[in-house]
This record gives sequence, C-alpha cells and structure tokens, in this order.
Amino acid sequence: MKLFRTVLVGVGLACAATNAVQAAETAPSNVTHDDYGSVAASLTGVAGDPARGAAVMTDRGLGNCIACHEVTALKDAPWHGEVGPVLDGAGSRWTEADLRGIVVNSKMVFDGTIMPAYYKNSGYVRPGDLYTGKAGPAEMPTILSAQQVEDVVAFLLTLQD
Ligand code: HEC
Repeated sequence: MKLFRTVLVGVGLACAATNAVQAAETAPSNVTHDDYGSVAASLTGVAGDPARGAAVMTDRGLGNCIACHEVTALKDAPWHGEVGPVLDGAGSRWTEADLRGIVVNSKMVFDGTIMPAYYKNSGYVRPGDLYTGKAGPAEMPTILSAQQVEDVVAFLLTLQD
C-alpha cells in the first residue's frame, strides 16, 4: 500500500511538471519575429542542449538540416547536401535571436527561401493530411517541438569561427 501511494505521488508530480513546461511554451502562432525576422525570447525558457540539437539536425525524421547544409562539426553523419550555405561559423555570423528566427520560420529572414519553417502550424496553402488525400487536421503539427528548436539554436551557437 505504501509503495502504491508512492507511485501515485510520483505520477502526480510528473504530470504537474509536464503541465508546467507546456504552460511556459510559446505556441507557434504566438511567436513574434522582429523586423529582421529574429525571435528574441526563448520558446520555452529552458536552456537549449547543444548535443540534443546536433541529434535533431542529423535526424532525417526531425531537422534533417544536413540534407541541405554542410556542417564540419557533424561530418560523421552521412551525406551532407549543398543546397544551403555551409553552417560553419553560423554562431559568429548570427545572434541567438537571429538563429531562433531562422529555425522557427526562415521565410521571415530569407524571403522566399526553400528552407522549411520548423515551428509553424498555420498559414499553409491547403495543407493535406500526409498522403491520405484528405484535408489536413485543424491544428497542423510543427516539424520540431519548441524545446527542439531551442536545442538546435544552442548547437548553432557553438559553431564559432
Ligand atoms: C531544403 C533545404 C534546407 C533545409 C532542410 C534546411 N535549410 Fe537552412 N537554409 C537553406 C537555404 C537555401 C538557406 C539560405 C537562405 C536563402 O534561402 O537565401 C538556408 C539558410 C540557413 C541559415 C543561415 C545561413 C548562414 O549560416 O548564414 C541557417 C543558420 C540555417 N539555414 C539553419 C538550418 C537548420 C538549423 C536547419 C534544420 C533545422 C536547416 N537550416 C534546414 C536550406 C535548407
């Protein structure tokens, strides 16, 4: 019985923690870009983890950034594309706010770019529901979660000249 109660308390605490994190997250539609496309405020208030950011950038199901960008620090990951600029030194060229803006929605920084918007869930033209041929869900999922964006930004900041 004592064990059972301990477990219940544990579950309760875990739920409380999850709710707290969600409450602090900025929803995609509430992100504000300044005139240059930068996003000054952290999306989560939780410091990004560069190692997890590197993992997101090389994961084909997540960022898949290296499909378009070469990054010397990630050279162990297979095949790097050359569609976008080499990201070496990106942390020296751009501020944290600039990088957050680029990852959230690069179209706010580079007009008409082919780079995907990673934290955006509205404003698409007739989105479909994957390959079903049906209309998309009312609330589109973002490619990356808010914390994954912060993790990627943290990794990009490590790319210094
Ligand atoms: C489909 C290709 C594509 C993908 C995928 C992509 N990008 Fe880009 N990215 C570009 C292009 C092209 C540019 C150059 C901007 C333009 O379009 O003029 C760019 C620009 C950038 C820049 C500014 C370049 C610099 O260093 O001066 C950063 C930073 C960046 N991307 C980060 C990322 C990250 C991080 C990811 C993954 C989360 C990513 N990109 C995924 C195509 C891509």
